[in-house]
Amino acid sequence: MKIAVVGTGYVGLVTGTCLAETGNQVICVDINAEKVKMMQDGKLPIYEPGLDILFHRNIGQGRLHFTTNLGEAIEEAQIIFLALPTPPGGDGSADLSYVLGAAKDIGKLIKDYKVVVTKSTVPVGTADKVRAAMDSQTKVPFDVVSNPEFLREGVAVEDFMKPDRVVIGTTSERARKIMGELYAPYVRQGNPVIFMDERSSELTKYAANSFLATKITFMNEVANLCELVGADVDMVRKGIGSDERIGRRFLFPGVGYGGSCFPKDVQALVKSADENQYNFKILNSVIEVNETQKKILFEKVKKYFDGELAGKKFALWGLAFKPETDDVREAPALYIIDELINAGATVTAFDPEGMDNVRKMIGTKISYAADPYSALHNADALLIVTEWSLFRNPDFDQVAKLLKNKVIFDGRNLYDLQKMLDCGFYYNSIGRKI
Ligand code: UGA
Repeated sequence: MKIAVVGTGYVGLVTGTCLAETGNQVICVDINAEKVKMMQDGKLPIYEPGLDILFHRNIGQGRLHFTTNLGEAIEEAQIIFLALPTPPGGDGSADLSYVLGAAKDIGKLIKDYKVVVTKSTVPVGTADKVRAAMDSQTKVPFDVVSNPEFLREGVAVEDFMKPDRVVIGTTSERARKIMGELYAPYVRQGNPVIFMDERSSELTKYAANSFLATKITFMNEVANLCELVGADVDMVRKGIGSDERIGRRFLFPGVGYGGSCFPKDVQALVKSADENQYNFKILNSVIEVNETQKKILFEKVKKYFDGELAGKKFALWGLAFKPETDDVREAPALYIIDELINAGATVTAFDPEGMDNVRKMIGTKISYAADPYSALHNADALLIVTEWSLFRNPDFDQVAKLLKNKVIFDGRNLYDLQKMLDCGFYYNSIGRKI
């Protein structure tokens, strides 16, 4: 099939590349000329494991193209994916100006039937708005489909190529047939393509992310309680996770959820409930608990040093909001850094992929180390914020030698409690004994 993808951010680029991989002809379009030039020259603007191989293969074999010209991109396309940003507006609701702007432009340009697909996470009712925006510009027939993405950063390629499910929201038979054919190669193992109406599809995306954020938040609260009653959250996690109704995944307590999706989507669902005079109480609590959880490591540090943090030096491992990504949007590390700096401390950080992005945001507010060990020199404590594999089994003798105090605050529960005790560390993690 011939496909256009409008917007080459994370979602657009993964979608375009993975759609080319099954033999489709894909043109990705973006207004950022510099970025388009970069991709035309075969350079990937993002870090996503496994994407580079597919990106180069499909460019090399002539199935993946890039342009800044929307007209050229959509001229021959049967399907047009909208993968544009929907940033939170001032009031927490998603800002649809990019999506609706593109819909209008597409409306002006189309000459024959197209399926226009919203891939960005958009509030309920957006398909209708896209339809109206296009209707205002054209008499040519088209269908608007909601097809939310469930990609996780870091494993986005795998998630796209072998999705747990594909959700397609459309009431048009014609569009349903085209979308079903497009996704058939991705669900060969029998995973479902679930067809539904546009509104249910749009809400599915928000409900999925909000449910996962709630699951994590619930575990964070259980962990906090574990500390108070002397229980071990690792045990509780295993104990409840083996019940299939609860499930093993997404039960890891930590420093609060971050990233470009959960915080924004939970906010947007609350907002959209508000607009419909519904108070989504549980999600309001999730937001509140997560705000506190993001600072939990700082609170532990503050307590340990009796509030005297001025002049102290901290080593911080992990800046990205999770491993295998360079994404630092809404990363808990940034909140912890802020608190430490405000308390008069200094921070030296190391992250395998996230340092450039943090440097762009906060510059020299902190120092950046070339490797995990050089961040430790003479530090009063080590704080672990992201669970990169590199941090899972360090040389503890080295760590002990380099730190001023043998003190570790671990926001991701990476180490065995007994081992830490044997190595002589003061080791404070989440929901476990000290
Ligand atoms: C999330 C969803 O998992 C995807 O299905 C969805 O498509 C995506 O948002 C999106 O809407 O685009 P992502 O934000 O990439 O994906 O990251 P997750 O792996 O879901 O992690 C989100 C946050 O939860 C991270 O801060 C992570 O550290 C935290 N988390 C996750 C925990 O604290 N504990 C867990 O057990 C799992």
